[in-house]
Amino acid sequence: MNVNRIVYLDGAWLEEAEAKVSVFDRGFLFADAVYEVTAVIGGKLIDYAGHAARLQRSLDELALACPMAPEDLLAIHREIVARNALDEGLIYLQISRGPADRDFAFPGTASPTLVLFTQAKAVLDNPYNQTGIKVITVPDQRWARRDIKTVQLLYPSMAKMEALRQGAQDAWLVEDGFVTEATSANAHIVTVEGRLVTRPLSHAILPGITRATIVALARAAGIPVEERAFTPEEAKQASEAFVTSATNFALPVVSIDGAEVGNGRPGPITGRMRALYIAERLSLAEPVT
Ligand code: PDD
Repeated sequence: MNVNRIVYLDGAWLEEAEAKVSVFDRGFLFADAVYEVTAVIGGKLIDYAGHAARLQRSLDELALACPMAPEDLLAIHREIVARNALDEGLIYLQISRGPADRDFAFPGTASPTLVLFTQAKAVLDNPYNQTGIKVITVPDQRWARRDIKTVQLLYPSMAKMEALRQGAQDAWLVEDGFVTEATSANAHIVTVEGRLVTRPLSHAILPGITRATIVALARAAGIPVEERAFTPEEAKQASEAFVTSATNFALPVVSIDGAEVGNGRPGPITGRMRALYIAERLSLAEPVT
């Protein structure tokens, strides 16, 4: 575990052991909170604009006011990187509705709790890039508004534990016979004809910031993209499969429910998308001043 971090809590910079949130916080009692995860490479924020825009969307969907102006939020992201001398890893941000007497109806007066912390992590040098990951499929039993990035993560957490128990690294969630997404990443396949297939945006999946960039980069590189749902069976017959998320970029999936995908090794289009993503996003990354 990371130690001795400086975290941000409601206007204060605190040693991590000193950062405490009320037991009455609605984030704790009701999972009444939203979050974002932004990758950091070489001290730079990756795809920050997308994460900031999705945060605002999640807040709007829950009628939660952002406690800070966008430019101040960016300044705090930069400052937390500097204060922790973070070279590579992630910034976690959470906004909850704040403390209030326990009641399903929330008071208009609660003042939001804003927390940011860093986590150092070798995001570029992930050994699973070389080997790929194995996934299992499980029913998608999450709530019906997965497009909002809330902290209700118990089901994805249980699904991930089941994957580990079965010797895999993650689970793909399946609803009405179609893959929705992974526990904490978007799921994609590449057909034998070389077409990238990804589920269209809806309430069923999180609108991944990495997904959006990868789709745009694929189109720009002349890789045909089909936005449609796919079944686990189609994924098992695909030539490649991969997941995208802020800290994994594009990560190969080499086995689904024990069936090898393609030749059972990370595929070339996945590798290309990953390289393009990192090169392009690093060149656009917000510099830390
Ligand atoms: N998870 N789908 C789900 C359910 C997710 O939780 C995530 C991200 C994604 C990918 O979104 P993005 O590309 O914007 O990171 C898709 C984060 C990283 C997490 O919970 O740690």
